[in-house]
Amino acid sequence: MTQRVLAPFGRRRCEVTANVASGGYRIFSALDAAGPQPRAGQFYMLATERWGSTLGRPYLPRAFSVADAKATDEGVRLDFLVEAVGPGTEALAALAEDDGLLLTGPLGRPFSSPGEVTPDADGAVLVGGGIGIAPLALLRRQLARRGVPQRVLLGFRDREHSGGVEELFGCEEVRLASEDGHAGHRGFVTDLLAVLLAGDDASRAVVYACGPPAMLEAVRGLCAERGVGAELAMEAPMACGFGSCFGCAVPLADGSYIRLCVDGPVVRADQLDTALVAGSGHR
Ligand SMILES: Cc1cc2nc3c(=O)[nH]c(=O)nc-3n(C[C@H](O)[C@H](O)[C@H](O)COP(=O)(O)OP(=O)(O)OC[C@H]3O[C@@H](n4cnc5c(N)ncnc54)[C@H](O)[C@@H]3O)c2cc1C
Ligand code: FES
Repeated sequence: MTQRVLAPFGRRRCEVTANVASGGYRIFSALDAAGPQPRAGQFYMLATERWGSTLGRPYLPRAFSVADAKATDEGVRLDFLVEAVGPGTEALAALAEDDGLLLTGPLGRPFSSPGEVTPDADGAVLVGGGIGIAPLALLRRQLARRGVPQRVLLGFRDREHSGGVEELFGCEEVRLASEDGHAGHRGFVTDLLAVLLAGDDASRAVVYACGPPAMLEAVRGLCAERGVGAELAMEAPMACGFGSCFGCAVPLADGSYIRLCVDGPVVRADQLDTALVAGSGHR
């Protein structure tokens, strides 16, 4: 299993270096002077210094996948993709350059390498839906550095609920799907995955997916049918992010429970009966 990168103890202050709009989402960047380089699939608990400490609301930090991490002379530049859906994400989406960002991380279990999921794996298929494309951007770069062949399938509900493709995935070959037909195939991203997995050359691929629960459940079902190894980056309501509140418990197929923040958020698809976890995830 790929080793997780451990977070330094305690919460630290970082400075926001950029915040740009991308479709219906925003991408903000912060310089983490004291933190390590995270692995793809890990996340950070984030709060704004301004609203978080002076107004006191929202009280709890919010969980965010790291979308990119680049080493610089001053530290690690972290990029996050945000969809404003409530008070916490709205405050983060409104961050301005030089604002303080309070951060704990990197947290959680990262994606495994293809060979750790399927011993004779010969490539990776990355499947992202909506804001769930974020951790796949860093995964794509980390796999590319190791020379792993990969195909990227990204899907969005509509123009308003989309963004980040050009900035985070660049000009690399990416196949798109959208439910309203504004980009790529009109329909679900899992339609593209079904076609790809029906081909002979996909049987030894490993699928890595992140997106809304219904999409993850469709990915899980397709991979189970075809005997393809898969890892899913899941969401659950997270109050602490490091294992102490038990708010993020998710049931496994064997009847046990995991805390998604420490045992996930990346979970082997064959450990689950369903990826439809109550109270979790974007639509
Ligand atoms: C491991 C992990 C990684 C995540 N990565 C990202 C990311 O990269 N970018 C991003 O924008 N968001 C991400 N999220 C989701 C983000 O944490 C939530 O959207 C956020 O906590 C909502 O807080 P809020 O105060 O804005 O809204 P709230 O008032 O808490 O909720 C507003 C609405 O969002 C829904 N909601 C609440 N919590 C979640 C949740 N965890 N996931 C989905 N919907 C939720 C609620 O049902 C409600 O309808 C991630 C969540 C997890 C667990
Ligand atoms: S978020 Fe508190 S235990 Fe997982």
